[in-house]
Amino acid sequence: MSDRSKVFVTREIPAAGLDPVVAACDTDVWKDPLPPARDELLKRIAGCDGVLSLLTEKIDAEFMDAAGPQLKVISNFAVGFNNIDIDEAKRRGIRVGNTPDVLTDATADMAFALLISAARRIVESQDYVRAAKWKTWEPLGHIGVDLIGRTIGIVGMGRIGMAMAKRCHGGWGMNVLYHDMNQNKDAEAQFAARQVDFETLLAESDFVSVHTDLNETTKGLFNADAFGKMKSTAVFINSARGPIHHQPDLYTALSSGQIFAAGLDVTDPEPISMDDPLLSLPNCVIAPHVASATISSRNGMAEIAADNLLAGLSGKPLRCAVA
Ligand code: GLV
Repeated sequence: MSDRSKVFVTREIPAAGLDPVVAACDTDVWKDPLPPARDELLKRIAGCDGVLSLLTEKIDAEFMDAAGPQLKVISNFAVGFNNIDIDEAKRRGIRVGNTPDVLTDATADMAFALLISAARRIVESQDYVRAAKWKTWEPLGHIGVDLIGRTIGIVGMGRIGMAMAKRCHGGWGMNVLYHDMNQNKDAEAQFAARQVDFETLLAESDFVSVHTDLNETTKGLFNADAFGKMKSTAVFINSARGPIHHQPDLYTALSSGQIFAAGLDVTDPEPISMDDPLLSLPNCVIAPHVASATISSRNGMAEIAADNLLAGLSGKPLRCAVA
């Protein structure tokens, strides 16, 4: 019998992370691009010492029971970890790792790309061209909103919020407002950012960009009430987690002209249902949760996830520990 640790990798990840795991462990890799069904996941995890998981896997007490008491480490291939019951993992002494930093710039780039796409109606314009509707240069057509010197409101001034503020302030001369439980003195010094309450941020921002984690206080934070307090010219950006916005309320806000446009890299649920009315709106740009999808980010995430997994298996401190 092998004395190598037994691990389950819930999807193929870049070789930069998969190769060292396969070299060191008795590794079962889920090769299908779609996530394993719940019963398959619970079957495959049985007897494993570690798991390298994606945000699509719900890792709760049932999962940990199915794995068994030898489970030492959960290494999430993501910076977010709302798919994991952290308290339960802590209670059982299971280490949990995530992959911060390497995706900060890529995620802020995506948030900014969504901002400018929604503000300048880029996707809608492309659809117009492809539908053979472009007949002439239109003085009154395709009018968007300006960016220079406007106000960006950042909800969650952590690493990614800071990177978004840097782009908006440094590149486009925007005023920066932020809402966060903690004061961020670096953001205040570098971007003249001003910490404000949520209502002030909603009322004064031309662009509102979400960079907070999903938790009990942020779930549904952007609902009818919040959209109702935003400017009618405002653009809403969410590249964090879908459930932070209430999707039917966002539809109402966009379709009634309560806000100008939205750019989403995340939806609720994921993937978005093809029946979701948001898909019918020209003023909503939607990407399939791809903010970290760059070569260096995904390779970096793979390396950290592998390091976390291998460290946890050998009882060493994780490179990036959540618990
Ligand atoms: C992606 O959403 C991540 O949390 O890394």
